[in-house]
This record gives sequence, C-alpha cells and structure tokens, in this order.
Amino acid sequence: MKRLAVFAVAFLLLASIASPVIAGPGKRFDPVTARVRDLTFSNLRTGYKLFQEVCKGCHHRGNDQGAKFLHTESKSMQAWNRVFYQRYPDCAKSGAWQPLSKDDLLKVNDYLFANAVDTVDVNCYL
Ligand code: HEC
Repeated sequence: MKRLAVFAVAFLLLASIASPVIAGPGKRFDPVTARVRDLTFSNLRTGYKLFQEVCKGCHHRGNDQGAKFLHTESKSMQAWNRVFYQRYPDCAKSGAWQPLSKDDLLKVNDYLFANAVDTVDVNCYL
C-alpha cells in the first residue's frame, strides 16, 4: 500500500514536470491571467465561434487582407499561448482584435490551444 502511494506521487511529479503547459488533461495554464483554466465544452464552443467570426474574417484562404491562412493546427499549444500572451501579431497591435473582450480572447485561446498541432485528436483513428 505504501509502495503504491510512492508510485502515485512519483507519477504525479513526473507528469507535472513533463507537461508544464498543459497543466493536466482538459486544462490550460494561461500566462495572461497566470491561472489554470478548465477547457470546458461551453468555452471551447464560444472560442470556436469567435475565431470563425473575427479571426477567420481575415485569416481565411485567399483573403485580400494580406493575412496568412490560419487554423487551429497552424501552431503548437505553447505557440498559441504565446500569441495571446505577447500579442506580437500585427493585427493585435492594429486593433483588429478590438471586437473581442479579454474574456473572449481567453476562450479563443482555449479553443486554439485545445486543437493545436501537438494535441491528440481522440476521434482520429488513422
Ligand atoms: C483585420 C484583419 C485581421 C483580423 C480580424 C485578425 N488578423 Fe491576425 N493578422 C492580420 C494580418 C494582416 C497579419 C500580418 C500578416 C500575417 O502574418 O498573416 C496578421 C498576423 C497574425 C498572426 C501572425 C502570423 C503567424 O503565422 O504567426 C497571428 C498568429 C494572428 N494574426 C492571429 C490572429 C487571431 C488569433 C485573430 C483573432 C483574435 C486575428 N489574427 C484576427 C490580419 C487580421
């Protein structure tokens, strides 16, 4: 019994070292608020909607805004976090994100993070 507890603690320690960005399944450590967020279905759905409505308004294929085509898999989890933490894109600086509140942006970040290129799609069996 004691041995099991030692294993459990060791596993948890290793898991936390191995995935500092993920902060557990279904969770995201958000550097903007320095909080761990639950990736709830409702927030992911809102994030998806806002991404489509606002970001994809420019970042769709063949747009005439000079914006690159972007989708969830354009970046890794960490890279998406960096986009919202550092706000380095031109569009963040030019005010193109203006229609989105701070809370909206957290949800867009949640959605992009949860579907980033280095995540596992549980519905994909190929
Ligand atoms: C008004 C049009 C417009 C909107 C709306 C917009 N962008 Fe942009 N975005 C641009 C342009 C123009 C650039 C600079 C060219 C480029 O790198 O695509 C850019 C650059 C970027 C980049 C850097 C490109 C890269 O490969 O790293 C990211 C990331 C980005 N935008 C994300 C977003 C996100 C997320 C949203 C929604 C919250 C958004 N953009 C909304 C026009 C827009």
